[in-house]
Amino acid sequence: MASHSDVPSSALKGCDISGTSTNGKAASEYSFKAADVVVERTSDPKAKEDVTDLVFGTAFTDHMLTIEWSAGEGWQAPHIKPFGNLSLHPACSSLHYGIQLFEGMKAYRGADGRVRLFRPMLNMQRMAKSAERACLPVFDQSELMELIRKLVQLDQDWVPHSNSASLYIRPTFIGTEPNLVVKKPSCALLFVFLSPVGAYYGIGAEPVSLWADSKYIRAWKGGTGDCKMGGNYGASLYAQYEAVDYGCQQVLWLYGDDQQITEAGTMNIFLHWTNEDGEEELATPPLDGIILPGVTRQSILELTSKWGEFKVTERHLTMAALRRAVVEGRVREMFGSGTAYMVSQVGRVLYQGENLDIPCQGSGSQLSYRLHEELTDIQYGRTASDWTVLV
Ligand code: COI
Repeated sequence: MASHSDVPSSALKGCDISGTSTNGKAASEYSFKAADVVVERTSDPKAKEDVTDLVFGTAFTDHMLTIEWSAGEGWQAPHIKPFGNLSLHPACSSLHYGIQLFEGMKAYRGADGRVRLFRPMLNMQRMAKSAERACLPVFDQSELMELIRKLVQLDQDWVPHSNSASLYIRPTFIGTEPNLVVKKPSCALLFVFLSPVGAYYGIGAEPVSLWADSKYIRAWKGGTGDCKMGGNYGASLYAQYEAVDYGCQQVLWLYGDDQQITEAGTMNIFLHWTNEDGEEELATPPLDGIILPGVTRQSILELTSKWGEFKVTERHLTMAALRRAVVEGRVREMFGSGTAYMVSQVGRVLYQGENLDIPCQGSGSQLSYRLHEELTDIQYGRTASDWTVLV
């Protein structure tokens, strides 16, 4: 890999080799400001699809947010403008070297007609962490949150009138370095666009089947599995299609010689069971560098800990322990969690040629249903909570 001293000077014309340095300034001083936003409204609003026809991530609203950065000039004024294609240099560093990250968050329209964001600052924090890991520049998280609020406000008619659909928000941050040098980007683009969505999988849908095999590894210690970077997802596709060849829908990602259970597909994973010590427990793998710190994951841990009805643990879970628990009838439920899917029951795990059937009655008696109810009550404003931010 090229170090800075390898960089041909021609490639650096107009660019500051110090790349993402903030010159010691605090993020708030260095960042773009929501108050500086320039808004250009579309003159050609699109027709909105019927909420029942919504396929995840295929419809887009009328406007988007873009904010450009360069090492020489810092952050430019944010722009909210008509939704449209980006124009990128063919050598753009995000296209070649995956210098990129994204977020997934949602806005919900409550029965009261008001639109709410769910724990948006957790997404901002995770985005800042991914940006640091990607060598992209710092920004003020509150300013970005405020810009997202303004964008959603402008396109609020696109937030579905439905208690299962929502408006998916996709903040994205890419290196736009216009040359092939492998280095910290000296130009970058942060953009946010919106997509009205129905339920992706979620509760009420068929439980998912998982192929558990350590042939492919999603994340490793020292890697980027705990950051929301596109490469983590793109690199998972090959395994995903092998799972389909084995008659499963998703991969149950394993790690290490002891085959620790880490994530399922693009979701965090939870096991509700009677553990080895005979205790009722809700367990999910700890944030030890290979797990994405999901907002739904965190919310489930906080809600269930507050109930105080059973043990709630961030701990390692192995395939051997899961298999034994299935054989001994100690598994109550297994489910994935994520912004797109919320909670998604697991019905079967294929492991070493053996199908492990996971209880999933599809009834309200299971924990995933209760969590789905409690979380959607907050998101759609049926329960007052400081987890939501009014738009
Ligand atoms: C999300 O839940 O927001 C995700 O990131 C999943 C997405 C890759 C579809």
